Amino acid sequence: MTYSVAVSGASGYAGGEILRLLASHPDVEIRTVTAHSNAGQKLSEHQPHLRSLAHLTLQDTTPEILAGHDIVFLALPHGQSGQYTDALGDVPLVIDAGADHRLTSQTAWDAFYGGAFHEPWSYGVPELLVDGGKQREHLRGATRVAAPGCNASTVSLSLAPGVAAGVIDPSDIVTVLAVGPSGAGKSLKPHLLGSEILGSANPYAVGGTHRHIPEIRQALAAASGPSTVSGIVDPEGIRISFTPVIVPMARGILATSTAPIAPGATDAQIREAWESAYDGETFVQLLPEGSVPRTADVLGANTALLGLAIDRAANRVVVVTAVDNLVKGTAGAAIQSMNIALGLTETTALTINGVAP
Ligand SMILES: NC(=O)c1ccc[n+]([C@@H]2O[C@H](COP(=O)([O-])OP(=O)(O)OC[C@H]3O[C@@H](n4cnc5c(N)ncnc54)[C@H](OP(=O)(O)O)[C@@H]3O)[C@@H](O)[C@H]2O)c1
Repeated sequence: MTYSVAVSGASGYAGGEILRLLASHPDVEIRTVTAHSNAGQKLSEHQPHLRSLAHLTLQDTTPEILAGHDIVFLALPHGQSGQYTDALGDVPLVIDAGADHRLTSQTAWDAFYGGAFHEPWSYGVPELLVDGGKQREHLRGATRVAAPGCNASTVSLSLAPGVAAGVIDPSDIVTVLAVGPSGAGKSLKPHLLGSEILGSANPYAVGGTHRHIPEIRQALAAASGPSTVSGIVDPEGIRISFTPVIVPMARGILATSTAPIAPGATDAQIREAWESAYDGETFVQLLPEGSVPRTADVLGANTALLGLAIDRAANRVVVVTAVDNLVKGTAGAAIQSMNIALGLTETTALTINGVAP
């Protein structure tokens, strides 16, 4: 069977990356691409690297144009998806790259986003530990999927094994992320001009204001499900200091996350927590002891690479994780989730190889 697909937000970064990956997917036909201010223009004017799709023209983003496909991807600014998702009830599979369907708590939504709250969908991070299992099980047969925030899934994948195994204290997590500006989208913003970011490292959303914080707390609370030692299921028990820093690389996230070692946890138990969590996973890989990843190793790839260190002097576990924000952080996660939801081979159209240098 060939699935017909519509991609909204097709002139943007996330939509463009969804299209780039889908273009090599044998089971889909990209039939429709939509945008907003750029509707009516050729896709190639906005995504000139997508040569195989150069014949497509951007249409308006309306429920009528998106309806009638087997699969619809929404890659719109947060707060915009909800107006379309309500009207796409007949579409068998809808995958939202935005935040509108990620959070289970309206209180958290109101505090960090505001505007209309929409029901949570199946979270598109298959490898995440959830209630003693994996999120993958919740994606099989799913008809509505919320792809993750790129920083959120990077940090959640980094620390979920330690939280689930009870070998770290989740009430004192600190994470600092070097992030490329493509994470903020393609629309013009003065603080993201080349002249502002080239040759400079620019922190933003300092002091607990970044919108991905509740998403991480939600994911880590789910990881510490009933089967765990810590038994923490309330996001209130997950406290996180989160500081992103924009650095001059177009794409990529390097997250350095630390948390105190739980009393009595041995080095072997700590390493085992991460090894067993990701044993057999294709796209989330723990590097050998002593190795830490670089963003170049994951660019263009659907891979999250983790380096784990145990700093006994500081009494903290340190996890360094590299992700391509546009692939494993968004479009790759969306397509991996699509594959699982439809019962296709999970790895179809996704690579584990980066493009370094
Ligand atoms: N960038 C990332 O690394 C990343 C990672 C994870 C998740 N996401 C999420 O993916 C979504 C898209 O992000 P992005 O980085 O691709 O943003 P972007 O580059 O700014 O693209 C936004 C897209 O949405 C369209 N659009 C804007 N306002 C719209 C409206 N009112 N109705 C319909 N379409 C509208 C734009 O069309 P025009 O160009 O025609 O105006 C454009 O195609 C966001 O929710 C973001 O949080 C992004």
